[in-house]
Amino acid sequence: MITLKTHSQPAGSTVKVVLTGENKPCHCPGVDQDALKALAVKPGTIKTLNALEGETLRAALYGVLPEKLGYDALEEMASLLSKELKALKAKQVDILLGDDALQGLSEAFYKQLLLMDDQFTHYQTTGFAPIDPSAKAPDKEVFQPDFTLYLPDSFDLAAEEGRLQTAAHLAGGIRSARRLVNEPANVMSPQRLAEDAQALAREHGFEIEVFDEKQIQQMGLQAFWSVAKGSDTPPRFLVMRYMNNPDTNELLALVGKGLTYDSGGYAVKPATGMVTMHCDMGGAAAVIGAISALTAMKAKVNVVAVVAACENMISGHAYRNGDIIGSLAGKYIEVVNTDAEGRLTLADAITYAATVLKADKIIDIATLTGAAIVALGEEITGVVADDEGIWQAVQAASQTSGDKVWRMPHDECLAKHNKSERADIKNSGGRQAGTATAALFCRAFAFGKPWGHLDIAGTAYHEGANAKAPAGATGVGAELLARAAIELFK
Ligand code: BES
Ligand code: MN
Ligand code: ZN
Repeated sequence: MITLKTHSQPAGSTVKVVLTGENKPCHCPGVDQDALKALAVKPGTIKTLNALEGETLRAALYGVLPEKLGYDALEEMASLLSKELKALKAKQVDILLGDDALQGLSEAFYKQLLLMDDQFTHYQTTGFAPIDPSAKAPDKEVFQPDFTLYLPDSFDLAAEEGRLQTAAHLAGGIRSARRLVNEPANVMSPQRLAEDAQALAREHGFEIEVFDEKQIQQMGLQAFWSVAKGSDTPPRFLVMRYMNNPDTNELLALVGKGLTYDSGGYAVKPATGMVTMHCDMGGAAAVIGAISALTAMKAKVNVVAVVAACENMISGHAYRNGDIIGSLAGKYIEVVNTDAEGRLTLADAITYAATVLKADKIIDIATLTGAAIVALGEEITGVVADDEGIWQAVQAASQTSGDKVWRMPHDECLAKHNKSERADIKNSGGRQAGTATAALFCRAFAFGKPWGHLDIAGTAYHEGANAKAPAGATGVGAELLARAAIELFK
């Protein structure tokens, strides 16, 4: 929890943090500016001081933010702070902010503080010896201190309260997305994903419809079903709706890849590449997180979120390399690689958004290609868009969310890679420009609507922690898409 106060209100916690900007005056109450200067703390670092003053004060930290503050530096500082506070087992923390220390990034800072506890420790027990086999091991204790932030008098407290609310709603969306992705595939089935989305719909107040395997076949989602039918765990098709802008009829669709597990199918993945494939519903988690946040924020948008959730498995009823399958759009698809399954499920979900839901604009998000990781690494999301407005909205959103994005081409010469000799289109254009050709496969099902595509294969899941997120799911896309949606309805 975060409480906002002004410098003129008294502080009282046992752990105190002073955060100033480099070369910025510090008018924090009870803090000797000259004494701080004498400590010569390097910008971008934190120094632990022995209790400076008063008997109640257990520890004091002093952090200096660099003069030209950007997202990376802010995240780094929040991460350093979290390590120090964890070591101190701090429960209540006062943070005194120097004048202009955050330089307009207060919303981002609140978000970082709110997500400080977000470790996935659900399956890590505290040395619990189960004598009673039905007993559940206690969850590892989570760390989340209560923060009181003392803002300089120059800050507009009411405006900051608003920013804190926004940050809390977006942090909630990120947290939900991470939780959905972190659960292993034996827990997070399509059915469970639907149930969790229904619970979020009830909690926040958006609408949701869930279609089962029978309905999926009746609805003509043939490409999706071709992937799904190989698994004994049945698929689900989710349609979520939040209509809160009566001033316009415009409807934006967010379509998320929802592979709760991707073994590769008969184009089977090596074991090492398969271990983290429970993250292959990261796009689904992002659109569910985004619509949750938009609803919580009461954003003035009209949004549908669509998820085709299934597993890509091997069995006697699985699809094969070489199959030619149908699709909701009526196009035949040559399956040259069963591991390029995501775009098949997305194809039907995108067609459904464009034709049945009559969305005016479509953004899809997917852990789609290893090529995105090769091209951009783990920290930059690849974007392909044939619409300038959508690209600009995503770019603007990335500047406020701190998620890095990079645009990749959508040239016609790349779309040609997907041409098939045996059917209308094939599901892999080969090794060259793999992220763009996968994206352009998806575009072929958008019925010419303004379209954008986010490839989060590198950014959705990290085996280790970094300053931005703990180990595991990052929740990428939840905030980015929520902010992009708001941009598109401005
Ligand atoms: N889910 C994978 C992509 C992926 C890889 C996500 C690594 C996260 C981390 C996707 O379904 C896939 O297997 N893509 C293939 C496509 C190829 C067969 C054309 C790939 O990138 O190798
Ligand atoms: Mn695959
Ligand atoms: Zn996949």
